[in-house]
Amino acid sequence: MGVSGSGKSTIGKLLAQDFKIPFFDGDDFHPEGNVVKMSSGNPLNDDDRKVWLETLNNLAKQQLTKNSCVIACSALKQKYRDTLSSTIESQTKWVHLSGSFEQILERLRIRKGHFMPSELLKSQFETLEQPKSAITIDITLELKEIIVEVKNHLEDKSEFGLFGLGVMGKSLCRNLANNGFKISMFNRHVEDVEVDIAKNFRAEFPELSNASTFDDISAFVNSLHQPRRIMLMVNAGKTIDYVIEDLLPHLSKNDILIDGGNSNYKKTKKRNDYLKTKGIHLIGAGVSGGEEGALKGPSIMPSGDLDAYKQVQPFLETISAKDQNGLPCCTYVGPEGSGHFIKMVHNGIEYVEMQLLAEVATILKALGQNPDDIANTLESWKDRSNSYLLEITTTIFGKKEGGEFLVNKVLDKAGNKGTGNWTTIASAELGVPNTLIASALFSRYISFYKEERIQLSKNFKKVITTELGITSNDLLEAYQFARIINHYQGFKLINEASNRFNWSLNLSEIARIWTNGCIIRSSLMEKLVEVFKNTTNILTNPEIITLINLYKTSAKKVVSQCVLNDLAIPAFAEAIQFLNGITTAYTSANIIQAQRDYFGAHTYQRLDDDSGKNYHTHWN
Ligand code: 6PG
Repeated sequence: MGVSGSGKSTIGKLLAQDFKIPFFDGDDFHPEGNVVKMSSGNPLNDDDRKVWLETLNNLAKQQLTKNSCVIACSALKQKYRDTLSSTIESQTKWVHLSGSFEQILERLRIRKGHFMPSELLKSQFETLEQPKSAITIDITLELKEIIVEVKNHLEDKSEFGLFGLGVMGKSLCRNLANNGFKISMFNRHVEDVEVDIAKNFRAEFPELSNASTFDDISAFVNSLHQPRRIMLMVNAGKTIDYVIEDLLPHLSKNDILIDGGNSNYKKTKKRNDYLKTKGIHLIGAGVSGGEEGALKGPSIMPSGDLDAYKQVQPFLETISAKDQNGLPCCTYVGPEGSGHFIKMVHNGIEYVEMQLLAEVATILKALGQNPDDIANTLESWKDRSNSYLLEITTTIFGKKEGGEFLVNKVLDKAGNKGTGNWTTIASAELGVPNTLIASALFSRYISFYKEERIQLSKNFKKVITTELGITSNDLLEAYQFARIINHYQGFKLINEASNRFNWSLNLSEIARIWTNGCIIRSSLMEKLVEVFKNTTNILTNPEIITLINLYKTSAKKVVSQCVLNDLAIPAFAEAIQFLNGITTAYTSANIIQAQRDYFGAHTYQRLDDDSGKNYHTHWN
């Protein structure tokens, strides 16, 4: 349906061809009187139309006894459409070809041999009652696109596919469905282990009633609109490659895969290049926020081909968290694996934020606080240094089980899934001094040597040499100090990678999409959105300089008191040491250069010769 000139016949014929069913042009069924009337420039009235519409309704009914058909008819008023679909309502699908008056007028002007003079178009627009349940198609699309779009709708295909129903996959499905998207959900079938996962999951949540469920890859892929948009929520690593190989035979050119796992950014680039040779796009998307974030709005960090991103943008941006201005915490990050790169650094920053809070707890415990007291202290910090991790840590310390603090029953071996490790490797590869991330990572590794720690704790007794004398305010300031250094280092790594790989990353935007939904959201991150608008180095920002100078005294006090009392606070200590290093105009690296030249003739440059010439000396 649609006004004259909207393309009903052309599109109707193509559709009928595609579906292999007959096509009928409604205009061919007008009684002679109607044709004469229209040709002489007079619009038809409803009486004129009645017989004609009934004829078309009979034609449709007759065709339905065989199979189906496509009928092109203007059907401008609801009551015309009621006549046309009378008694076959549930078997009728309306496709409304919609365009502007100017557009269609232009089309009619260049059309020859049509009996509808263009002047009648205006009356058609006036008569048109927008159909409520029609598939509305924008006629400015290319014919091919229109056919795909109509077919997608007619076949009741899903707009978005989710592959892998683990904790994150499930939450994202519910998020998509809650936002009104028609989705297909896939989970593999593993005899006796993973059976009817998708189906059972749908039955659990009413919002999923419209979702389609699959454990067969081919049926899953075929249930999706083209170009297909499939988000993979499976374990990072080899599994992604296996899944890609399983999907490939069923995909078509221009389909889009989104890898929403914590994949290594280098692997994402390789997969991107590989899939390109098959005509398939890969969007590597970091997703942060855990189970709750995925359900209510995660922070999403997508990268890859920009045009492919635009095809998935409405989905990702709709389901993402929103920042304080209501903007999505999802933005196109850059090319290749840049999205997974920044997610990796996000996790590196996360490791340090967690480690600092663990060290804070070590100190508060040494000051005699029990978990309840620690929860209270952390609670009192919220006004000055709020963050998601501070909030959850406060809750953790308050949690009791059987009248006892649960946190004290947790085995002190910290796990990891690899992103902190990769961040440290990337820092080393790119030559960025990410000392806090390395220190947080290695603290987890130290924790793993539980038996050795028990053994060595007997050999080397801890000595309390002095009163700790650290106040809550000292500790809070030291904590804020170390957090600034942590963010400086993390963003420096991102900036170096951006320069090295020509990614043109926007640090302010990255900070912005980390202000909500993700694990490292905090009031400091909100400040950094503004700071990064003017610089890529936060230690050059006047407000940050003031804060660092303000907090440094407390940081020094906390670190030195802890060292004197044999407390392990590596991240706090690194923060101080790093600032001392990065703010020293002439470091002891001259000694290193002299040593290298001494034993290996590696040469050195001289301060008194700025030509860059290399010198070698026989030092002995
Ligand atoms: C997030 C988290 C998430 C996950 C990490 C934890 O942003 O939502 O970072 O990605 O919790 O994988 O990593 P570890 O297991 O290495 O601590």
